Amino acid sequence: MRILVVGSGGREHALVWKLSQEAEVIAAPGNPGMDCECFDVSATDLVGMESLCQRLAPDLVVVGPEDPLVAGLGDRLRTAGFNVFGPNADGAQLEASKAFSKEMMLRAGVPTASSGTFTDPEEALAYSSERFEAGFQVVVKASGNALGKGVVICLTLDEAEDAIAEMMIEGAFGEAGRTVVIEDRLIGREFSLLTIVSDGQFASLPVARDYKRALDGDRGPNTGGMGTYSPCDWISPRLLAETEARIVQPMVNQMVSDGISYRGVLFSGIMVVNGSPMCLEYNVRFGDPETQSVVRRLGFGFGEVLMAAAKGEPLPAVEASSDAAVTVVVASAGYPGSIKKGLPIQLEEMPEGVVVYHAGTKLSESQLVTNGGRVLAVSAIGKDLDEARELAYRGVAQVRFDGAFFRKDIASIG
Ligand code: AMP
Ligand code: GLY
Repeated sequence: MRILVVGSGGREHALVWKLSQEAEVIAAPGNPGMDCECFDVSATDLVGMESLCQRLAPDLVVVGPEDPLVAGLGDRLRTAGFNVFGPNADGAQLEASKAFSKEMMLRAGVPTASSGTFTDPEEALAYSSERFEAGFQVVVKASGNALGKGVVICLTLDEAEDAIAEMMIEGAFGEAGRTVVIEDRLIGREFSLLTIVSDGQFASLPVARDYKRALDGDRGPNTGGMGTYSPCDWISPRLLAETEARIVQPMVNQMVSDGISYRGVLFSGIMVVNGSPMCLEYNVRFGDPETQSVVRRLGFGFGEVLMAAAKGEPLPAVEASSDAAVTVVVASAGYPGSIKKGLPIQLEEMPEGVVVYHAGTKLSESQLVTNGGRVLAVSAIGKDLDEARELAYRGVAQVRFDGAFFRKDIASIG
């Protein structure tokens, strides 16, 4: 089987790493860490991607990032006769528009925070003021895609006013922030559930915990994710079953009844509030850096599962080991704000059991240099979380570039 992985980040590197164990893998555009042939076509170049597929005839195309899916890469390649793992543009709206996603959650009866959707800043502020008066704090979210950064947790009405002005008036996230969703703030522990969906059926992968804040102790701004671990012992089989029954199944059913053929990952971002799962968001792709940890635990046959989903066929079982995986992201100084690129990276020899996924790197005259906010993801596997964490941080110590920073508490707190 020949599989084309579309994308260039750490998540795609992890997919290439895993799928290469059981298939011939190629990538576009790929990154310098990938041990496979890479083709220089941008993930959002739909025409270029279709001609690459015509030329290379992959049996399966696995699309990593959401942007090409939102732009209709799935639709285009399916129309051309390829098997694609990743939803069409209609299903991808679940991630592209938080307003749409909330409306779907309400129709499907999925438990989620109360919210309002606004295009007028004054109405947004009046709603926030009502929520504070009713004893809640609010979360202001850019409706469109803002790379995980368009979410502001507001502890006071003044903070909400600032976030509304920044997004809706100053246009900090461009069009993505002209419509905002304002939600009651929930308090609880979070986890990510990646579920493979083949139209009306689904099979969940092992759960992972992501650390979204930039700094130790869950402080600092939201990022795309600074590290993950899997499994999460604090998630009981009952909680997992309840999450599937109340959050995954209803959305899968809703898509079927809305005539949306969904073949790809449904990523549920969950917060456990008073022992019950609440849905914070859905994404339409593998999580980054959840995937980097999750694939370390998967057995043989992952490619077959993705292929079955791409064809809308029954899903074979996804095997997972009882080992633990920990992934620590090494980021550029300043991330998630502005960063410098082009700094030389030194990678010393890694301990056994560690895999280094590249996320924001490139080769400049055969020197590996930084090329993004999240630069590398160091992933380790061990018999339990303590062993995997210790190994992951030994791996991180082998990475050097100017201003490199990482969280020191991945898999140690919450
Ligand atoms: P989202 O992109 O909607 O998942 O939001 C990113 C992060 O913001 C989540 O992982 C949470 O940590 C936080 N967040 C989002 N919505 C809420 C909420 N209603 N209450 C508390 N925290 C939230
Ligand atoms: N790690 C969170 C995400 O992929 O959206």
